[in-house]
Amino acid sequence: MSDSARTNAPASWEVPPLATRIVTERLVLRPLRTGDVAEMRRALRTNAAHLRPWSVAAGPGEDPASLASVSRAVVQHRREWKRGHTFVLVITPREDENRVIGRIALGGVLRGAFQNAYLGYWIDQDLQGRGMMTEAVRATTAFAFSGAGLHRVQAAVMPRNGGSLRVLEKAGYRREGLAERYLSIAGQWEDHVLFAMTSEERIVADQPPRAPVGR
Ligand SMILES: CC(C)(COP(=O)(O)OP(=O)(O)OC[C@H]1O[C@@H](n2cnc3c(N)ncnc32)[C@H](O)[C@@H]1OP(=O)(O)O)[C@@H](O)C(=O)NCCC(=O)NCCS
Repeated sequence: MSDSARTNAPASWEVPPLATRIVTERLVLRPLRTGDVAEMRRALRTNAAHLRPWSVAAGPGEDPASLASVSRAVVQHRREWKRGHTFVLVITPREDENRVIGRIALGGVLRGAFQNAYLGYWIDQDLQGRGMMTEAVRATTAFAFSGAGLHRVQAAVMPRNGGSLRVLEKAGYRREGLAERYLSIAGQWEDHVLFAMTSEERIVADQPPRAPVGR
């Protein structure tokens, strides 16, 4: 990227409101509400086997879909949102904003010189392959740069997670390299491919495609 494409570091930022609602062609992304507990439990139970290979292993006797775990998570996510530390969004279809079909999060927000968040996501197993996560990743990345005032979003994907690698590629993320034994997933230290996008790249990605050369 040329020096002229670099933007200045932001002087200040504000935490986006909990009333944030991101509308895309087919989806609405919004922070979790206490009224989502039952629906989130249903979604986690239905998708337990689908998500297990790509998730942090639950502790002994811990059930991530239990009433206590999900209730605690909703309270924690709302508190973390207000502090500006983590922005967790449920993914709902536009025609029914109470139905949870996935989750996308900007976690581990660091300000100061970094202005970075870590992206994570999943979608209902029966809705895969329709471009919905790519739509959600694009919208959440735009929110990271404009709503949350971040400069950089990064993501880490296991090399065998072909669908997730493709989502980031389609959304315009840049592959940075392989991080060996990077995260403990399903109880194993797993290598991950690191991806990132900075706000300058999003500006470039939003420009209309260039005319074909030679015409
Ligand atoms: C990864 C995941 C979020 C993708 O969601 P999705 O809505 O199916 O994604 P999209 O439809 O936007 O795009 C998926 C792309 O991957 C492709 N794909 C799917 N499985 C693939 C595979 N095994 N190898 C290569 N490409 C694959 C699809 O064909 C599609 O690409 P295309 O549009 O060029 O045809 C979803 O599969 C999921 O929730 N997986 C479990 C949780 C998870 O892995 N989260 C990410 C952890 S990093």
